[in-house]
Amino acid sequence: MTYQATTIPSVRQTVRAELDAGTVIHLWLKSRRPGKVATMTVELDDTELQQVTTARTEEFEFRKLMLARGGSLELSYDANATDVSVIYAFLPTRVQSEGIRVLQHSAENASPSLSDGYHFRPPFGWMNDPNGFGRFGGQVHLFYQHYPHSLRWNTMHWGHAVSSDYVHWRHLPVFLFPSDDLSQRNDGRGGAFSGSAIAMDDRGREDIRVFYTEQVRDRKPEEQIQLSATSRDGLAAEPSTVILPERPGGLDLTLDFRDPYVFKGPDGRWKMLLGSRDKAGGVVLLYETPDPAGADGWTFLGTLHRENRYGMTAAECPCMVPLGDAGASEKRWALIFGLLTSRDQRGRRNMTSVTVGRFDGQVFTPELEQELDFGSDAYAFQAFVDDGRPVGIAWLANWTDVSKKEDFPTAMTLPRRVLWDGTAVSTPPVEGVDALRHAELDGTGRLAAGERLPLENGAVEIELDLTSPGAAFELRFDHPDIDLALRLNAEGLEILFGDRSGKASPRYLAADARPSTVRIFLDAGSIEVFADNGRWTGTKRLPTFTGVKAAQLSQGNGSIAGARVWQLKL
Ligand code: FRU
Repeated sequence: MTYQATTIPSVRQTVRAELDAGTVIHLWLKSRRPGKVATMTVELDDTELQQVTTARTEEFEFRKLMLARGGSLELSYDANATDVSVIYAFLPTRVQSEGIRVLQHSAENASPSLSDGYHFRPPFGWMNDPNGFGRFGGQVHLFYQHYPHSLRWNTMHWGHAVSSDYVHWRHLPVFLFPSDDLSQRNDGRGGAFSGSAIAMDDRGREDIRVFYTEQVRDRKPEEQIQLSATSRDGLAAEPSTVILPERPGGLDLTLDFRDPYVFKGPDGRWKMLLGSRDKAGGVVLLYETPDPAGADGWTFLGTLHRENRYGMTAAECPCMVPLGDAGASEKRWALIFGLLTSRDQRGRRNMTSVTVGRFDGQVFTPELEQELDFGSDAYAFQAFVDDGRPVGIAWLANWTDVSKKEDFPTAMTLPRRVLWDGTAVSTPPVEGVDALRHAELDGTGRLAAGERLPLENGAVEIELDLTSPGAAFELRFDHPDIDLALRLNAEGLEILFGDRSGKASPRYLAADARPSTVRIFLDAGSIEVFADNGRWTGTKRLPTFTGVKAAQLSQGNGSIAGARVWQLKL
């Protein structure tokens, strides 16, 4: 038998864009054929500028181009030989106000096209924890755990976006990259894990200093160490330095040592929290430095807090903010962290707790503890103090739902205030979300009267005033794929969720809640409930992007004093 030599036909793929002088292009490519170099030809106004090549086959390789002059750019490659993950362009001088322009992405990293969605989502690729949430150079910056090449967790980068109102976001270039070694393969060995950011005043210009964990699986003796980097342009991190190369000794900690959260303590020094674990459960570690730049001199002060309940393992993504406007001696602080692998008696997993107490810069004295979110899909909550008032945001998902075998596009929660009234912490949505109210769908009491109210595309806010605190009702949402309702009764306030698979769902119950008002935000893929201005907040990711079709009270007409419903739009 003879074989005929076959050549794989070339399939030319071309990406074109009119771009200005000074435009920067970020792209990632790899070869589809082991041993063969992949090539991309870069032309400007029909003149070849360069060939971009890579021999890598396992993971996409990052390349950066800069256009010295403007014109018509053409990037072309043989799609049978060269695999391109994503290409975006930006003008460094205008990107903060315009955002990046995605010129091409692949099917593997495509964000769901949700034209009406109003929650923050990455422009492409995977996202988990919010990182480095803060105000720098007058804008709110949100960084996040990111893998650009697929919708599954893998080698971690930091994605980046900015906003002026916490609601409208502009996507910026990828900010932090994993080390060269980790970038070679897509085996999820680590990368730039979660962390935080502080503003550094440099002669009138506000630089950003970020702190993060570098994870390298199986590295000895430490898998997780703490790094820091600065950024002068607010777009890219300069080379990182190691600030904590090892865990504190003598505490018998597991290898978990991550998620540095840096904040100003009551004594004016920079403090750092880290999440860790020992044999008994989760621990939050406290460090400080006298260095006003936060660059150096980090020393271990001790264990700030521990939590052993619910079968939790590591404390993740700790964060701490001062509450209210009390003076120094009366001041309370909120310590918030994720209880990894926790499970409560109602089946909820990976809960987040908020502990309120006094903090003198060295010792935290807890006074009360409450759950941050009864829906438990608000993980890795990170807050910072913006103009005297803490504001936070969380990953709108739960690790328990993540499978390595399935795409899992995610969003962030609505940004939330962190308020304290002397007895409890409340987390209402930021005021900016009021501007999302686009058209009134019900202002005349149809919902309150028991009518079935169509919800257009399902991107809506429903506001209910109850006739008395805790007045019982059940609001059912019509959805083609899932069962969803919100119920208030003697047990408390509960998001009733079922995915129709027959699998029992946890009970998302705010036990004993007796609110007088309830705000419900529905979007493709989520429901968020804020009762009594966020005194009880519940976030549940919905495993579908189809909108809720309609709402109707199935019980408790007499409990609703007023109901208003708005179509929301960004
Ligand atoms: C929390 C977390 C962090 C870690 C990051 C990795 O969701 O597990 O502890 O830094 O995700 O992506």
